[in-house]
Amino acid sequence: MRTASFGILSTILLVTSFAHAADVKEKAAICAGCHGENGISQTENIPSLAGQPDQFLQWQLVFFRAGSRKNEQMSPIAADLSNDDIRNLAAYFASLPPPGPPSDDDPALNDAGAKIAARSHCASCHTDNFAGAKAVARIAHQREDYLLKALTDFKTSVRSGGGQAVMADVAYPLTEDQIKALAHYLAYFK
Ligand code: HEC
Ligand code: HEC
Repeated sequence: MRTASFGILSTILLVTSFAHAADVKEKAAICAGCHGENGISQTENIPSLAGQPDQFLQWQLVFFRAGSRKNEQMSPIAADLSNDDIRNLAAYFASLPPPGPPSDDDPALNDAGAKIAARSHCASCHTDNFAGAKAVARIAHQREDYLLKALTDFKTSVRSGGGQAVMADVAYPLTEDQIKALAHYLAYFK
């Protein structure tokens, strides 16, 4: 009797976790349409999600759902996500290997970006290899066009960010040329 009921229970658990994994994969397939296979974007102005910190992903999805971060393409998608969807999707994309660096075509711009990043203490929050942690984004090897867009959105208050809105303060004093150099440096970070 004991073994039989244990057998039933473990079957139920197995089926539930299988259904759960299938559900995440199904939802993630919708994301792949824009964010790319395995969370690596091939599309201009759409960020890669692979290897982003779990908490960062969860917060951004919550911001989109709440309307404090807005985007025509992303907002309607986030509006339909439950808290469980957000937890599961964030864990899934955080577990994928992040994009690697493309080979650099502009070392001078890269050097300029490195100097601005050091002066602006970007690494103090984004960590030394810019992989991010907790609610702070991974910015190493993100798409250059998206980094440019994100920094410009913070500078112009299109995007305010969560909590203390730190990025708005960071980006506000940066010039367009400095933002260009930073985006290049981070996209090709070695
Ligand atoms: C129709 C295209 C589209 C689809 C489908 C889509 N996204 Fe997005 N997503 C975007 C765009 C565009 C942005 C960038 C928004 C911006 O510029 O502020 C974005 C941004 C994000 C961000 C913020 C990332 C960052 O680095 O700031 C997260 C997290 C995200 N999407 C998760 C998802 C998930 C999870 C799904 C599937 C449930 C999904 N997206 C489906 C277009 C899409
Ligand atoms: C005081 C901490 C802090 C500092 C310093 C900082 N950041 Fe951030 N950054 C954040 C946080 C937190 C986020 C997550 C966005 C949000 O919720 O506001 C972020 C987000 C970003 C994003 C958007 C990433 C994405 O995928 O959407 C970019 C790009 C970025 N930071 C670049 C930089 C650069 C470049 C510097 C230096 C010039 C810098 N940050 C300095 C905390 C910081």
